[in-house]
Amino acid sequence: MKLLVCGGAGFIGSNFTRLRLRENGDEVVVLDKLTYAGREENFHDFAGDPGFRFVHGAIEDPQAVASVLEGCEIIVNFAAETHVDRSIAEPDAFVKTHALGTYVLLEAARTLKGTGERELRYVQVSTDEVYGSIEDGSFSESSPLRPSSPYSATKTGADLLVQGYFHTYGLPAVICRGSNNYGPYQYPEKLIPLMILNALHGDPLPVYGDGMQVRNWIHATDFGRAIGHVLEHGAPGEVYNAGGPDECPNIEVVQRIIELTGADESLIEHVTDRPGHDRRYSLSSEKVRALGWEPRVRFAEGLEQTVAWYRDNPWWWEPIRSGDYRAYYERQYGRTLA
Ligand code: NAD
Ligand code: TYD
Repeated sequence: MKLLVCGGAGFIGSNFTRLRLRENGDEVVVLDKLTYAGREENFHDFAGDPGFRFVHGAIEDPQAVASVLEGCEIIVNFAAETHVDRSIAEPDAFVKTHALGTYVLLEAARTLKGTGERELRYVQVSTDEVYGSIEDGSFSESSPLRPSSPYSATKTGADLLVQGYFHTYGLPAVICRGSNNYGPYQYPEKLIPLMILNALHGDPLPVYGDGMQVRNWIHATDFGRAIGHVLEHGAPGEVYNAGGPDECPNIEVVQRIIELTGADESLIEHVTDRPGHDRRYSLSSEKVRALGWEPRVRFAEGLEQTVAWYRDNPWWWEPIRSGDYRAYYERQYGRTLA
């Protein structure tokens, strides 16, 4: 197959591209705007593959999108602003990329269908955060959508637009909602890589509030394979949840990272909680399991491998830690951390 992977220079999109090139023998064109989170370094081991091509461009730019569609059978849209804390501080890019960007991609697919030239399939990569927080049990695909942050609200808007294009124009589109991902190549603003790098450097470990918020962790390769099942076997118009095999309160994740890095427990600092912080996420993944998918990586083993990857690959994170990330970190944590 030939895939257009939007946002393929980011964490999950680059892991997905690697899988599709190596495990499925697909051809992949990546379209990516290269925001602070998108990096060509993430292609380091497959940049020269004959089946791979990178195009620098934004999904909200119709000309850039039209220029990369030649021969593609499927659009997989990972492109997004993805950090909840940044969406609280500066929501505008979230609205633009999620609403306008998704619209431009859907319009491109609708136009091709309208000309009768070819029917592009479309996969929207989404998140469990569209359902909001759940105290007990797990969300199914028919749970109500109750997003809490500008990030999840705009991701919800994008999902609804995708469903509108399916119902109105018959566009063969599916949505795959993942739980919290972790693994190699994740930008260190997110909990796990931030804690690993801070622990390796002896820096404070900023835990929001009491640290008893629970996340359902999925390894990025497991999420990538779930998306693969959805694009190959999913029914048009349907939503598929893909949750990881294990849930864990944040404070236990941090304690485990302390053990794996040999850092000192006194580095933990409980800081002011995130506004509107969702207490717990949990997904039921029965529907995607019925397509033949199941997660392969348990959290304990995946976290150990992830700590080892960050320890062994300073070439990847050193330029980040010495660049713009410093300014972000100061803005986000400077006032609260000792
Ligand atoms: P990321 O921030 O690492 O990567 C996002 C990528 O999108 C970057 O390469 C960035 O340059 C690109 N991008 C941003 N705006 C763009 C635009 N307008 N046009 C083209 N490219 C643009 O994010 P990630 O963690 O890899 O997440 C990928 C997708 O998976 C997102 O849609 C996110 O909502 C979803 N998701 C993430 C998680 C998670 O835990 N990280 C969980 C479930 C779902
Ligand atoms: P994050 O990685 O930002 O993902 P999400 O908000 O999409 O779940 O955060 C995961 C959890 O970790 C969330 O409950 C917030 C918490 N957290 C901290 O306690 N400290 C931090 O410095 C960060 C970045 C997150």
